[in-house]
Amino acid sequence: MSEHVRIEKPERGIVSIVLDRPDRKNAITSAMYARMREAVQAADADREARVLMLSGGGGNFTSGNDIADFQKPLMQFPSPGILFLQAISVFRKPVVAAIEGHAVGIGTTMLLHCDMVYAAETARFKLPFVNLGLCPEGASSYLLPKAAGYRLAAQLLMLGDEFDAATALRAGIATEVAPTGQALAAALQCARTLAAKPPGAMQTTKRLLRRGDAQAVAETLLVEADEFGQRRTSEEAREAFAAFFEKRAADFSRFD
Ligand code: COA
Repeated sequence: MSEHVRIEKPERGIVSIVLDRPDRKNAITSAMYARMREAVQAADADREARVLMLSGGGGNFTSGNDIADFQKPLMQFPSPGILFLQAISVFRKPVVAAIEGHAVGIGTTMLLHCDMVYAAETARFKLPFVNLGLCPEGASSYLLPKAAGYRLAAQLLMLGDEFDAATALRAGIATEVAPTGQALAAALQCARTLAAKPPGAMQTTKRLLRRGDAQAVAETLLVEADEFGQRRTSEEAREAFAAFFEKRAADFSRFD
């Protein structure tokens, strides 16, 4: 069990997953994914849990997958990260996320599986998969063009540059922009409102909202996971991971 994920019950009916590894900007390890997935599945089964919240401690949501983990051989397929994404993609109750600071990689793609996302005005998002020799995951190659339109999705996924909360709002990743430091309070207020509503009607509404995409999301998650699993041991990815830890720009000039 990972000590870097806190599971809290801030109020009746609300379960909160808090990423808590501030010295690594809340980078997510396999153990953390396993803990998150277990918490999602427990909240799904728990009659008292009506809303799930996601947030990060120490001023950031997450810097994404732990890059040191990416450098290790893939021990299991689907990976713990994909298993977490699968769990949250079929979670039956509302999910509300609060984003302060950085939300990188899976820190952004997991938001496409949330129902409400409150982003601080200084929050920074990034989908750096191509720059890391990787490819989209979390069904983002399906969900992001749907939410943002092809042009913006291609810009965010192909260039992989950081983008701000206003762009996240335009891309359909964020629901609302909150003042810096207020994202969690805004998310909690929303979760409280959702938790007071009739749970049966809420779950039916979520199921109907997502029904049209459910099969495509499940399939895309697996297709992407296969490609991603191959890419993470590619020479391009090895160069990108090494460059990150050596604090230098990656050099892809030798690749065909
Ligand atoms: N995996 C492993 N370690 C990470 C990490 C990650 N995803 N993100 C940050 N860290 C580590 C850094 O290596 C650094 O370690 P050090 O103190 O030993 O040098 C420490 O966490 C602090 O990060 P730092 O880069 O100094 O913070 P910053 O505020 O300057 O930048 C980010 C924050 C998020 C912009 C930057 O850390 C970053 O780009 N991280 C990688 C994001 C990424 O590509 N994730 C994978 C997505 S698929």
